[in-house]
Amino acid sequence: MTVLVLHGVNLNMFGRRDPAQYGTATLDGINAALAALAGELGVELATFQTNHEGAMVERIHAALDDGTAAVVINAGAWTHTSHAIADALDILPVPVVEVHMSNVHAREPFRHESVLARVCAGSIAGFGVQSYLLGLRAACALAR
Ligand code: DQA
Repeated sequence: MTVLVLHGVNLNMFGRRDPAQYGTATLDGINAALAALAGELGVELATFQTNHEGAMVERIHAALDDGTAAVVINAGAWTHTSHAIADALDILPVPVVEVHMSNVHAREPFRHESVLARVCAGSIAGFGVQSYLLGLRAACALAR
């Protein structure tokens, strides 16, 4: 079983970006922590990051045919704007879990709305790297 973890716009800057909100972990560090947990859970992990919305949509389309059993997504600011990514996720027959490093509900009002929420099983926000790890656990539980 493969779980696909998608990282959206600006998330390659983790570790160099607003540590008060996002801490100091890098994207490579987050992916390494996810890979370690995937090993413990006995699942395969695939990860993808892009700063291009169309590339994200095309990666989601590819998940239809590559054996993806569940998706974890931190879409970054696209969370609040991208109906295109939401529509792409809605095509997938597998569970999708939304995650955020920061507590988006305690931040600026524009971050309080997720346009992805309508196609996600649930969301986890505010726990830093643990948001991803909890998201992976949730995705595995939903897919099994
Ligand atoms: C984020 C929260 C978003 O509002 C923001 O645009 C990001 C990161 C998070 O992980 O907390 O880029 O998704």
